[in-house]
Amino acid sequence: MRRRLGRECLYTPSCRLGLYVALRHWCPPGGRVLMSPVNDDVIFFVVLAAGLRPVQAPLRAADGSIDPAAVPEPVWRSLSAVLTTNLYGNPDPAPQLRARCDQLGIPLLEDVAHAIGSTAAGRPVGTFGDASVFSLSKHTGAKTGGFLAFADPALREELARARDALLAPERLAAELSYGLRPYAEAGVRGLRLVRAARAALRLLGLQERAGIRMDLRPAELRDALEAAPSLGDFDSWIRVDMHDYRLRPGRLRRRRTERLLSRLDDTLDRHRAGTRTLLATPWAARRAPDAGADSGAGADPGLGGGPGVGAEQPLFRVPLLVEDRDEAIAALDRRRITVGYLYDPPLDAYAGEQFTDPSPAPEPAQWFARHALPVDPLRAEQVISVLTAIGARPAVPPAPATPRPRTSASLSVQGKPRV
Ligand SMILES: Cc1ncc(COP(=O)(O)O)c(C=O)c1O
Repeated sequence: MRRRLGRECLYTPSCRLGLYVALRHWCPPGGRVLMSPVNDDVIFFVVLAAGLRPVQAPLRAADGSIDPAAVPEPVWRSLSAVLTTNLYGNPDPAPQLRARCDQLGIPLLEDVAHAIGSTAAGRPVGTFGDASVFSLSKHTGAKTGGFLAFADPALREELARARDALLAPERLAAELSYGLRPYAEAGVRGLRLVRAARAALRLLGLQERAGIRMDLRPAELRDALEAAPSLGDFDSWIRVDMHDYRLRPGRLRRRRTERLLSRLDDTLDRHRAGTRTLLATPWAARRAPDAGADSGAGADPGLGGGPGVGAEQPLFRVPLLVEDRDEAIAALDRRRITVGYLYDPPLDAYAGEQFTDPSPAPEPAQWFARHALPVDPLRAEQVISVLTAIGARPAVPPAPATPRPRTSASLSVQGKPRV
């Protein structure tokens, strides 16, 4: 990854731990961080654990990317950092955000969990920020691991020390259950016991999410905030879906991760092919005819014409836009296709003003969160046949409310002015 990104990279047991290290290093305690409200709630709790105030950004309805033009000027001036999400692999407008952060003298941090092979303005996502954090659980499929990439190589030792201070010691039982998990999961799937296994977890009280969002537990969260910055006090929120997030990796984890990562190019090609197939369907958000090949978030929604938003990217999930999203999820579930990575409602509606600054324009994020059906591109054909069979209706993103001012950064994204 150092070679691919041209940046120093440091292994972390998870992306969430890497984000915690980065937020602690680059942001002053009590600082305010612009982030996307359509995001994993775990990341929201990582920001709180780092002793920072989440500030929810306005998004574009077509792809859920951050809309810099809709962030009010006083909000920009109040920020200590910007954290991108690159939702499902669709890049946030990194060049614009980089330019704005430089103007304000604040760091840009990139969450690249979903976007390991994506590019923006011809550059890999994860090379714009002061630091960027990747997950090896997503495309790579290692279900463990991540890494922190950073612009200044002189920081390596300091960041490694910060990481090491947060690691929990390697545990044999955790390593064994990690090693056995793929076989157990394949067995459950082979015996068609997925639903029974889910019901058993529910009955045993071991299910950590009753719905899409985890239980907020506001009174406990208020107590935890008193202790921030602190990872331990937020453990019960941050460990959701990955209890080993701060565990020092054993040999088995490292070997499996290395093997899976060595196939990254092939994996990305398969994601690209599935993405292409899905973006050729009626449920794909359309890209503006003049938008460049990898401008991602630079496209205006609902304009028809060219290929879908996210074309050419090896998306982790392809956010198809469907009118009755929940009916589509139920139909897919009947065909044993589980839809994950749903982030509905957005974080400001989920957590409230006590814990976060709300987005100044929440509607596009709410619209996207309600209509996006994140489809695994490796299952493109199966999903298309289910959506066709139930007659799923495409949802058309609402047009932006105000005329969009063009920044000098957006004019030069593709190296030529867009008129
Ligand atoms: C947007 C986003 N960022 C970060 C993470 C955390 O990644 P990890 O599970 O490697 O900690 C996730 C997990 O799903 C995610 O969806």
